[in-house]
Amino acid sequence: MILAIESSCDDTSVAVTEIESTKLLFHKKISQELEHSVYGGVVPELASRLHAKALPKILNDAKEFFPSLKAIAVTNAPGLSVTLQEGVMMAKALGISLNIPLIAVNHLMGHIYSLFIEKEEIKPLMVLLVSGGHTKILKFNGIEEVCEIATTMDDSFGESFDKVAKMLGLGYPGGPVIEKLAKKGEDIVPFPLPLKNSPNIAFSYSGIKNAVRLAIESAKFKPEDIAASFQSKAIEHLTFMCKRAFKKYKPENFAIVGGASANLKLREEFEKLSEKFGFKLIYPQMQYTSDNAAMIARAGIEMYKKKMFTDYKDIKIIPRVAFKGCD
Ligand code: KG4
Ligand code: ZN
Repeated sequence: MILAIESSCDDTSVAVTEIESTKLLFHKKISQELEHSVYGGVVPELASRLHAKALPKILNDAKEFFPSLKAIAVTNAPGLSVTLQEGVMMAKALGISLNIPLIAVNHLMGHIYSLFIEKEEIKPLMVLLVSGGHTKILKFNGIEEVCEIATTMDDSFGESFDKVAKMLGLGYPGGPVIEKLAKKGEDIVPFPLPLKNSPNIAFSYSGIKNAVRLAIESAKFKPEDIAASFQSKAIEHLTFMCKRAFKKYKPENFAIVGGASANLKLREEFEKLSEKFGFKLIYPQMQYTSDNAAMIARAGIEMYKKKMFTDYKDIKIIPRVAFKGCD
């Protein structure tokens, strides 16, 4: 078995997975959304303190598996350095005391492997990653073969929902509350479609965010119409750029992962494109869209099989990571 720890942002999570069968034997998560919602976003120091409290509690519940562990996997990048540190410290302490190898997992790789929890890998795969920290189109061909087709030049997709929710006084995280409010509104506020005239495949969310701020200040529109129009334009920007990628790379399989892949309007729009472009559309199960340790354990299994271990004295916290570009 492999034990995995995730603490890159505001979710503390631990999973235990059987290596051969990929069966998930234990999975617990403590979210800090409530604690951060009063601030309209994640406060790193508070998050770190809450991880330090939650991790020993969850690990204590997983104690019965300790004698069967063959390795310990932990998210070491990307994320908030003070929260990554909590998970890595705990993984080090536990791993050294059990005398088992350490596996340092890239959180973004974890999101890709959220597709394969208790399942076989599917490859090659084009992946749209939409989370609070990232908006990327990636090409996946196994744990060691991931390249980047496109990324955001400023805010991420999820972050723009969080910021718009904050401006509308709706709390944190913004994604689910905006999606809910948008159902009551109409797409009537004329927000701009970002990078429409640029020939590149890239993302930018700062322009729509500013347009939302101006619309709120103008006091001409109802919050539900702002939410509906913002959501619609934010998703149109994704489909606009993904269509370019579909034309260029002609994927057979296309997956949407990350916290924002829970958005049903987004799913609906990509279902339409799946028919038009003829690819198979894949999502993680709903409970694995947001941050969790089951996905870290699943990626960890592939790394274990390839003996991709990190020495205890060499493990580093890497707040930002970049994938190599695709040719
Ligand atoms: O993957 P995740 O749990 O954490 C990161 O790795 O960042 O993603 C969290 C992000 C937040 O920005 C949240 O607002 C967004 O995902 N999100 C959504 C929805 N549910 C969560 N965005 C749009 N629509 C949703 N339904
Ligand atoms: Zn994430």
